[in-house]
Amino acid sequence: MPTPSALRGHFLTFEGMDGCGKTTQLRLLAQYLREHGRNVVETVEPGGTEIGRQIRRILLDPANTAIQPRTELLLYFASRAQNVDEVIRPALEAGSVVLCDRFTDSTLVYQGCGRGLEAGIVLDLDRIACRGLRPATTVLIDMDLETSLGRAKRRNERYGQSESRIDDESAAFHDSVRKGYLALAATEPERFVVIDGRAPLGDVARQIREALRNRV
Ligand SMILES: Nc1ncnc2c1ncn2[C@@H]1O[C@H](COP(=O)(O)OP(=O)(O)OP(=O)(O)O)[C@@H](O)[C@H]1O
Ligand SMILES: [Mg+2]
Repeated sequence: MPTPSALRGHFLTFEGMDGCGKTTQLRLLAQYLREHGRNVVETVEPGGTEIGRQIRRILLDPANTAIQPRTELLLYFASRAQNVDEVIRPALEAGSVVLCDRFTDSTLVYQGCGRGLEAGIVLDLDRIACRGLRPATTVLIDMDLETSLGRAKRRNERYGQSESRIDDESAAFHDSVRKGYLALAATEPERFVVIDGRAPLGDVARQIREALRNRV
């Protein structure tokens, strides 16, 4: 197995609260990088593979209220292990830029800070699932709760279904998620690029491209 540094591609993840604009900005960045001649692979967590999509359905089904925090945690990492082996590592070995919509940082803040599971457990599972693979760059789209949850809510109403169970969590939960993300970014400033997501779409996209200019 090649070490992460032997991988020729660039592994970039998008993080931030529900509705902050991750999926929107990931697509815009993918399009921009392709226009500039890069091979780009887009993937998402949970999901990204056929097995991952089946796991995602369990995780996001609002009927699954009986799911235990540890069950949830293991399912996220099961999806991730499959995504790493089937999609992410092969693409990085082939020299592609891999854009992943959420990754282990999401588990750290949602399951760790949000649900009170120990960060040590999350990191142990990360070692098993990812075998040392870590994002080279993480774009954290930061904004206040009201703006991001308002966007997620409007989007879900428009498309007639909730995209996540997490949308139903309390304001205190989301607040701990935001603080958790900012704390992570502060501990690894060389990996994180923190972007203010409140501006119009095109402006946010421009900020992201500018911040990544010397990285990707
Ligand atoms: N800069 C922006 N200004 C206004 N609306 C935006 C902006 N960025 C995204 N949106 C809209 O906000 C909604 C949420 O965006 P998006 O789905 O990209 O967020 P997300 O971070 O992927 O959310 P989730 O975590 O729930 O998947 C969408 O309807 C999108 O069109
Ligand atoms: Mg999304």
